[in-house]
Amino acid sequence: MTETPGRTRVLIVDDSRDTLEMLQRNLAREGFQVFAATNVPDAISLLEGQPVDLVITDLKMPKISGLDLVRHVRDNFRLTEIVMITGYPSVEGAVQAVRTGAEDYLAKPFTTEELLATVKGALAKLQRRRDAAGTESPPVHFPGLCGESPAMLRVYESLARAAKTAATILITGESGTGKELVARAIHYSGARAAAPFVPVNCGSIPEELLESELFGFIKGAFTGAVESRAGFFQTADGGTIFLDEIGEMTLSMQVKLLRVLQDKEIFMVGCRKPRQVDVRILAATNKDLGSLIRKGTFRDDLYYRLNVLNIHLPPLRERLSDIPLLARHFLARHSRELGRQPPRLSDRTIEILGRYEWPGNVRELENLIQRLLVMTDGQVIDAPDLPSFMRTLVQHQKDLHRTLAQVEQEHILAVLDSVGGNKTHAAKILGIDRKTLREKLDRSGGRSGPEEPDT
Ligand SMILES: Nc1ncnc2c1ncn2[C@@H]1O[C@H](COP(=O)(O)OP(=O)(O)OP(=O)(O)O)[C@@H](O)[C@H]1O
Ligand SMILES: [Mg+2]
Repeated sequence: MTETPGRTRVLIVDDSRDTLEMLQRNLAREGFQVFAATNVPDAISLLEGQPVDLVITDLKMPKISGLDLVRHVRDNFRLTEIVMITGYPSVEGAVQAVRTGAEDYLAKPFTTEELLATVKGALAKLQRRRDAAGTESPPVHFPGLCGESPAMLRVYESLARAAKTAATILITGESGTGKELVARAIHYSGARAAAPFVPVNCGSIPEELLESELFGFIKGAFTGAVESRAGFFQTADGGTIFLDEIGEMTLSMQVKLLRVLQDKEIFMVGCRKPRQVDVRILAATNKDLGSLIRKGTFRDDLYYRLNVLNIHLPPLRERLSDIPLLARHFLARHSRELGRQPPRLSDRTIEILGRYEWPGNVRELENLIQRLLVMTDGQVIDAPDLPSFMRTLVQHQKDLHRTLAQVEQEHILAVLDSVGGNKTHAAKILGIDRKTLREKLDRSGGRSGPEEPDT
């Protein structure tokens, strides 16, 4: 967006109508598009309705203060700038406002020149932030892994330590949290990177096959063994074997694996002579091995051998701040595959994604993004594009800090969704005519979709 005054939208919030009028006059004269509100709730619903570049708000207002508005804008609109007006040169209030996220402040009384200079400064800052947002990419800690939450930063730390040692590592975490990705990162950033990384899903290989798959077999070992064949351990020699779903391994296989860990040698099926192998073992599970040990289905001695170092991947719902980053990462990657420009996620979409539980973790988020890319072709992915179960769930978890306009908006979208986007049907259910519905959708900045023939 350019900052030519004609296109810049400024929202002014002040409980004094005189001040509002004065601001409105001066800013409109400079060519800004000006919106006005006399209290914070009105300001918030205006903000929900349309993009605003700059908010100029009074600090002291009855009931809800300007500081709360600053907080709301900071939490919800990354690319909106704020200037605080303090009723009297209360340095304290101004400092607090800037600390909360306001860009600058104006002390009443101020001249028109001061007003315009402050506005100009804030808009220049906004432009710089927008430029940066377009080009900035988060730091890469390990290729393929993204996330800047404190939880992920701890994962990177353990991962860096893990890559430096040769120790066996147990990677734990719910399904879809990135365990295999972490295993690969350990291998490819360590000393064995040039040798093979061999993933084995212990849960999907039938028990009677697992042993020969892992250790290989010699000719004549069993019916059908017409020639000797190497197993995954030989393939991984010098490199890393990744034993995924280790919790699924039977007790008899666990004994054999324990021997490999203790003696660094394997027995091919049908052969009594041990063979030396130099393989680093990484294991992963989404099970609680502690409870399997208590049940007697997992050997505790194997557990201690595997768990020399543990890397635990927290579920996505415990690192919500990673969601926008991950979503953009997948948008960029899968848009590239589809040969299209990655669409943007609206603030509302990000808000809904942040409130969802994500039982399938990062994998579920990635699948959703892929689906959205197929289902939408606009430049923005908006709340109505999300599957309805995500939005309904959010509705149940809603707190009471919502304006009527927000409630109305959500109800309209829910009804619209329930009739597959058919505005004629939706308007009928809502008891309004199509024109009013369209206006409400337009006013809210919500997606109103292509015009459909009047039926
Ligand atoms: N931090 C991350 N950054 C980028 N992509 C990620 C991240 N974590 C997971 N993914 C992606 O999510 C998907 C699932 O990750 P992965 O297969 O590593 O999970 P998992 O924990 O092994 O799951 P499961 O237990 O179901 O096997 C993969 O496509 C992976 O690329
Ligand atoms: Mg996995």
